[in-house]
Amino acid sequence: MLALILLAAFALALWFWVWRWRSRLHAPFLSVPGPPALPLLGNTFQIVSKSSTELFHWMLELEKSYGKVYKVDGIYEYVLFYAAAEHVEKIMTCAEFNCKGDDYNVLLEWLGTGLLTSNGNKWFTHRKALTSAFHFKILDNFVPVFDRKSSILVKKLLENVGDTVEIFPLVKLYTLDVIIETAMGTASEAQTKQSKYTLAVEEIAAIAFFRMFNRIFYSDFVFQFSKLYEPYKRCLRTIHDFTLSVIEKRRQTLLLSSTAASDRPDIQVQDDRELGSRTKKALLDILLQTNIDGRPLTNEEVREEVDTFMFAGHDTTASAITFILYALAKHPEIQEKVYEEIVFNIGTDKDAPVNISSLNDLKYLDLVIKESLRKYPPVPFISRTAIKEANLGGVILPANTNITIGIYNMHHNAEYFPDPEQLIPERFETERGAEKLNPYAYVPFSAGSRNCIGQKFAQYEIKSTISKVIRCCRVQLPFASYEPPLKAEMILKPMDDMPLRFYPR
Ligand code: HEM
Repeated sequence: MLALILLAAFALALWFWVWRWRSRLHAPFLSVPGPPALPLLGNTFQIVSKSSTELFHWMLELEKSYGKVYKVDGIYEYVLFYAAAEHVEKIMTCAEFNCKGDDYNVLLEWLGTGLLTSNGNKWFTHRKALTSAFHFKILDNFVPVFDRKSSILVKKLLENVGDTVEIFPLVKLYTLDVIIETAMGTASEAQTKQSKYTLAVEEIAAIAFFRMFNRIFYSDFVFQFSKLYEPYKRCLRTIHDFTLSVIEKRRQTLLLSSTAASDRPDIQVQDDRELGSRTKKALLDILLQTNIDGRPLTNEEVREEVDTFMFAGHDTTASAITFILYALAKHPEIQEKVYEEIVFNIGTDKDAPVNISSLNDLKYLDLVIKESLRKYPPVPFISRTAIKEANLGGVILPANTNITIGIYNMHHNAEYFPDPEQLIPERFETERGAEKLNPYAYVPFSAGSRNCIGQKFAQYEIKSTISKVIRCCRVQLPFASYEPPLKAEMILKPMDDMPLRFYPR
């Protein structure tokens, strides 16, 4: 009997303690609307019972019900959701929101603290040093890689003329092929030969996305008992071993060439440290020649950045290219206009090389890409943490509050983009008043100091690829009314792949 009384008293005390703790947690957000939550469990059931796709649609519904600022109660923390341009401007430009949200923790073992996942001084010094790696003159060297690799993609798309082709996996292998060669400088055959490395990158990205949206397996403790843990560890080993071996080899090669240059001054060795040299430089070479705080980066630091480029630079561009091809298939009149512009500026020769300057001439294609990135933003949400107490839209956020920015929501808000569900490339024309668009309502690459460092790289890769595919093929929908259902993990994707038909021009 006494034991029962003690147990009841303990349960009551525990309940009271949790209630007090939750009330304190709740206090700053009382004025913020949000879906009804259970007394002690908050919205946890609603969160954990949904797949990533259902969560994505739920978040869109919540905005319709509660407006551009709302909260979700995840028992031990509140997530504040913002989809108003004026708030997003503040988040993207103020130092107190410069820190990434907790969602990225599931990437830490894979990417370490590379640019995407680092914060504070490490992020600042690395970002400053790595900006030169994306200089135009470096990107110019990559255009021939985009061109060569997209010829392989075109061959694959035209393998069975007129049949539907599920394009998303093909485009993903293409973007992986590109990023392996441009980031690591190592020859890649990702589109034609399966490799342990490319399979591991694909698998680990899928596991990370799954964990990000499944709050049970998000916990490292729980995850180690899941059946995904063993494949995850295997992928980690494969990726890290591969990246480190490429780095080690490349460091040796650079060392040998600089020793040869100093031993034999009679031999002219091109100084490829200078930006603008015509020698082929991979992003890795620049990392190996970078000094931060007066010392070169260690192999581990270089590995973190290379793995980050592999992650941030392949699924994103694959999503963009896939949805642009879909948009062109759905709007044959826009596709024909794009084709005419390509023929006018590059000609009909399917093998004619392109460069940055000829890609810059494709102004209409630019508008189409911008509009498709609006309608289908490859990164639909991003998350940040307030590093200290901050006032955002009248809500005083305590330090460490997690904030989600609804990029997809803003891009589909009629207040910012009239007729948001229509594909209207001309809305980005300056003559049509594109400058009136709120810059913080259109942020496919984010904005401010933590914007996408690979933005220009991605834009040229996308432009080069689309111009090649449309120069060589006419793209059609599988049937006239086809609309792909969407799935949003960290990246926006077609839920059941993207079946399209390709015909040679
Ligand atoms: C269409 C393609 C792409 C899109 C839509 C995109 C979008 C974004 C967005 C929205 C962010 C901000 C993420 C956040 O704040 O959490 C970001 C960051 C980043 N992106 Fe991209 N990205 C693309 C391609 C690339 C490519 C090709 C690379 C590298 C080659 C790259 C490298 C990075 C890196 C390193 C960061 C972190 C920057 C920092 O925090 O300083 N991205 N990207």
